[in-house]
Amino acid sequence: MSDAKKLFIKTYGCQMNVYDSERMAEAMGADGYTLTEVVEEADMVLLNTCHIREKASEKLFSDLGRLRPLKDAKPDLKIGVAGCVAQAEGAEIQRRMPLVDIVVGPQAYHRLPALARATGPQVDTEFPAEDKFDHLPERKALRGPTAFLTVQEGCDKFCAFCVVPYTRGAEVSRPVDRILRETRDLVSRGVREVTLLGQNVNGYHGMGEGGDWTLGRLIRALAEVDGLERIRYMTSHPNDMDDDLIAAHGDVPQLMPYLHLPVQSGSDRILKAMNRKHTRDDYFRVIERIRAARPDTLFSSDFIVGFPGETDADFEATLDLVRRVGFGQSYSFKYSARPGTPAAEKPPVEADVADRRLQELQALILEQQRAGQEAMVGREVTVLYEKPGRQPGQMVGKSDHLHAVHVNDATGKVGELARVRVLASSANSLSAVRIS
Ligand code: 5AD
Ligand code: SF4
Repeated sequence: MSDAKKLFIKTYGCQMNVYDSERMAEAMGADGYTLTEVVEEADMVLLNTCHIREKASEKLFSDLGRLRPLKDAKPDLKIGVAGCVAQAEGAEIQRRMPLVDIVVGPQAYHRLPALARATGPQVDTEFPAEDKFDHLPERKALRGPTAFLTVQEGCDKFCAFCVVPYTRGAEVSRPVDRILRETRDLVSRGVREVTLLGQNVNGYHGMGEGGDWTLGRLIRALAEVDGLERIRYMTSHPNDMDDDLIAAHGDVPQLMPYLHLPVQSGSDRILKAMNRKHTRDDYFRVIERIRAARPDTLFSSDFIVGFPGETDADFEATLDLVRRVGFGQSYSFKYSARPGTPAAEKPPVEADVADRRLQELQALILEQQRAGQEAMVGREVTVLYEKPGRQPGQMVGKSDHLHAVHVNDATGKVGELARVRVLASSANSLSAVRIS
């Protein structure tokens, strides 16, 4: 075999891209590539991109610009663009940036090794009928205790601001047996917690024994996998929280009491303009039902401020929704017009108004996050150790409620679930001590 070649991957955007990058690294591994964190020593650079907001998209082009001197010094260097910008812009990327050798869309990753072996510019943004993951190599190496696992891709919801239905296509769910097999394999390699991923993951309807399975049923089957201690899932749409899934929050102990459930806005007028197909009251009702099933569930959400037509009153309604729900954490974004989406046709809200609203919303969200963390002080929680901390005798991991926790524990091991007592709360994490 020839000398090992080096692959550098930069991942932008969501957890789905993190999962895809891992699978691409493994696919290239079968072709003799090992990962490097030093871009200068790479034989191939792969940028796994995000198209969700304009800023995320533009980052790709500035990063490509920065790669030019490296490519000039090393003409054999292969540069690949993967992910949603690749899907959306295809060959246009090479026209704008001729240094790009490969453009590969999210549904064509199993063909990446072949594209990398070929000479001349390569573009593959096809949507094949088969499951791309079936054509990616088995994952063998031991790994950390948490893993992402994509179970569903694409979205049929067509929120008026969002490019996902165009870039990732229609909803497709992976069959149950593949997911179970991959989970057992991950557990045998050290994984204790899986986060099931999908752009609309609670819309999951994969083929299983006896027909179509819902996400609730899939979670119940995963809970039977020996050694799998924790299950999470994201991202969900409020309209797809069915009774069985909500019930699972109450009766599957492995399903963690934390749910990312984006609402985007608290104004019915804006929700309608966003084509969300639910009202703020619908959202409150879903939250109530989940809390009835599992009272300590912590929620997080995504919000968009400055959606076309958003008035001060609409924004006030969003603040009011945040106050009423009380989120553990949330992400908020300034609306970004995406070409090809219906909302992009409408006149935007003034930039400084949107900026001001974003700041105000973020301050409220942060206040809730801090208060939520403070409320944990003095309590006993369970932490899954992910890695040793920076201080000697310290382990770092996540609580059931997804709080980052630093634990004083000189004998703790990665992959262990430990009972700890929370001593203090700082900006983004809790500190704790192990209870024997
Ligand atoms: N502008 C701003 N934010 C957006 N999101 C999706 N599309 C846009 C857009 N055009 C946000 C939504 C979504 C999160 C992943 O990104 O809040 O839930
Ligand atoms: Fe985009 Fe999520 Fe709406 Fe689907 S449900 S269109 S992914 S924001």
